[in-house]
Amino acid sequence: MAPSALPLIPAPQSWQPSAGFLLKADLESSPLVQLLDAPDDLPSATGEIIQPGLVDESYRLVISSEGMQLTAHSRSGLFRGTQTVQQLLDAEGDSIPCGVIEDYPGFGWRGMLMDCARHFMPMDVIKETIDQLAYHKFNVLHWHLTEDQGWRLEVPGYPRLTEVAAWRTQWDGTRYGGYYTSEEVREIVAYAAERFITVVPEIELPGHSVAAIAAYPELSCKGLPLEVETQWGVFKDVYCAGNEQTFKFLEDVLTHAMDLFPSLYIHIGGDECPKDRWRACPKCQQRIADESLDGEHELQSWFIRRIEKFLMSKNRRLIGWDEILEGGLAPAATVQSWRGVRGAIAAARQGHDAIVSPTSHCYFDYDVATLDIRQVYTFNPRPEKLSEEENNHILGGEMNLWSEYIPPERLPKMVFPRMTAMAECLWTDNEQRSFPEFLERLHPHVKVLKAAGVNVGPADQPVNYKADFDEDSGTTVVKLGLDSKLVEAMEGHDLDLRQRALSRDEAPGYRPDLRVEDMVLPLVRMSDPLVAENLVMQWPDSDVKADLMVVQLFMDGVAYGTPTVVERSNHLALGRQPDLKHQPSSRYPGGGPFGLCNGLFGTRNYRDGFWSGFEGNDLDATLALGGETQINSISIRFYQGATAWVFLPSTVEFQVSSDGIEWKSLAVIGHEVPLSIQDRVIHDFVVDDLSLTANYVRVIGKNLAMCPDWHPGAGKPCWVFADEIVVR
Ligand code: ACM
Ligand code: ZN
Repeated sequence: MAPSALPLIPAPQSWQPSAGFLLKADLESSPLVQLLDAPDDLPSATGEIIQPGLVDESYRLVISSEGMQLTAHSRSGLFRGTQTVQQLLDAEGDSIPCGVIEDYPGFGWRGMLMDCARHFMPMDVIKETIDQLAYHKFNVLHWHLTEDQGWRLEVPGYPRLTEVAAWRTQWDGTRYGGYYTSEEVREIVAYAAERFITVVPEIELPGHSVAAIAAYPELSCKGLPLEVETQWGVFKDVYCAGNEQTFKFLEDVLTHAMDLFPSLYIHIGGDECPKDRWRACPKCQQRIADESLDGEHELQSWFIRRIEKFLMSKNRRLIGWDEILEGGLAPAATVQSWRGVRGAIAAARQGHDAIVSPTSHCYFDYDVATLDIRQVYTFNPRPEKLSEEENNHILGGEMNLWSEYIPPERLPKMVFPRMTAMAECLWTDNEQRSFPEFLERLHPHVKVLKAAGVNVGPADQPVNYKADFDEDSGTTVVKLGLDSKLVEAMEGHDLDLRQRALSRDEAPGYRPDLRVEDMVLPLVRMSDPLVAENLVMQWPDSDVKADLMVVQLFMDGVAYGTPTVVERSNHLALGRQPDLKHQPSSRYPGGGPFGLCNGLFGTRNYRDGFWSGFEGNDLDATLALGGETQINSISIRFYQGATAWVFLPSTVEFQVSSDGIEWKSLAVIGHEVPLSIQDRVIHDFVVDDLSLTANYVRVIGKNLAMCPDWHPGAGKPCWVFADEIVVR
């Protein structure tokens, strides 16, 4: 019996079954726990130095019909073992098979980044997250505490950090923010330490520092007052590298952080630091001259080295994102690779340690349509290109929960169940891992998590699709597909797709602008199974009521993943090819020539293929309806996502004509959606109660042309995105 036969996530490295069972009811007291060869300097449960990778976390669990015996060489090993025992007890069934588990982590660094700056996470959310990290044998909480949009750490002597930097004024005028007092930080550190999790603080520098600069403008190159950021992105105002005050401030902050956090490692960010201000700053240029540096990239490197020297003088070690490689690595720095694994490879080849968390596998702020659980499960922090020796520098990996679009109430849905796959990637050796076997354990495990009150989100959206209006048949054609890697991974298992078309009345909880993870969908009622070889479905025009097509993948008869929903509507302009004054960008063609009249609606993901994107230009579309047509309403939906430089049009004008020469303007419609709203928005512009006849319809959505002056793209062309012109 393989280790994966046990109801454990992560799966243990080895399992030797023997005859018989232990009845859970017979385990009256806790398992017998024993510490072996304990070195004298073994840390105690709290306040001790628990350093990832430096502690032997292995344990051995013997299960007999009489009871369990847990042994380990360290307290953290014992603790990992108790979590195994807990999972065995929590699993379904009255008994546990007898045998011996010998277990140890594949990586010494098994982490999660929690961004408490973009959204402030309350203490109980952090503690619940720590509980779950512990349950899944993680050992690092990477606590992202400072950002452009908020500073979350109280620091003695700097009252404006908590008075000013901790708060931002939202688009609707409300004040948003918060901070952790030193006492609260100590509480979190102790809570994590009891669970043998090290809290590694991240204090961002030299970039992502607008909040601190808003409190202390003298820390920036310009020295001018500015506001704590409300937008997401990368901002030009950064700490001045030529100003000694900057270093006094940062050393004070880091000194306090080192007082609060016993972690050997301190993360200093280092990512996404624009050099615009440094280029124009006499003090920064003076520094470049004084230190004989070759430009601003070396200035960044000099900045990081100086901070590292300070940390090293206090016996701490610096971690930075892979940008710290630019301009030369600080002597003992550890690199966290996020732009792929190149940073980790470069660091390891230079003899530096690395933590691996590429966007492709580890960015859990991406929804499951972008990063599904199978993709997470393929994560291997050891880059193939490295030699065995170089691979010794790979400490492990982290899943990153950036919180721009994750308020605390959505955090669990983004973390679960994908974190269970990450737990296994970081703990269980590759040879012991198999996705189908993992899935078999995942189903009951998710039940346990849900029973414990965890708000588990979707794991995967396995069915992809392309849909368009088919001119020849006059129908909407949906082509469904399954990720070939998923099919490969599930070889030998029964896969089938089942679909159902249903009206919006039957799916009252469904709103197209909802995020996949928020969707409330009716149970997918079965129609005939749609076998994987027959993936083209026609969507007949006559069936006006069928607005939504829901497709669910089943594996061995069990629903797998989130159903895919295609939303469409039948209307008078369906299948009419619009005449466009400006063509959409080739990057966002919106489904081709019929895109704006194919009956299909886009989702909150503007890259879903249904949105037509116009860069710097208006959307200006003329439709011939094919004869004088009675019209009651015309509408069009636009998308706004400020981070992607996509804004609602300032106005939408609707016109009609009988001959295509003389036009009558029906309305010019504005909107009241703030451009600076931080969330993504889909907005419908409508003119109705028309009662007129026309042969032609024209819709003009006015592009703002340039990003607004408060926006990181100020002065550069912005976009309008539309999915469908609907005529009824
Ligand atoms: C990062 O995602 N900017 C590290
Ligand atoms: Zn400067």
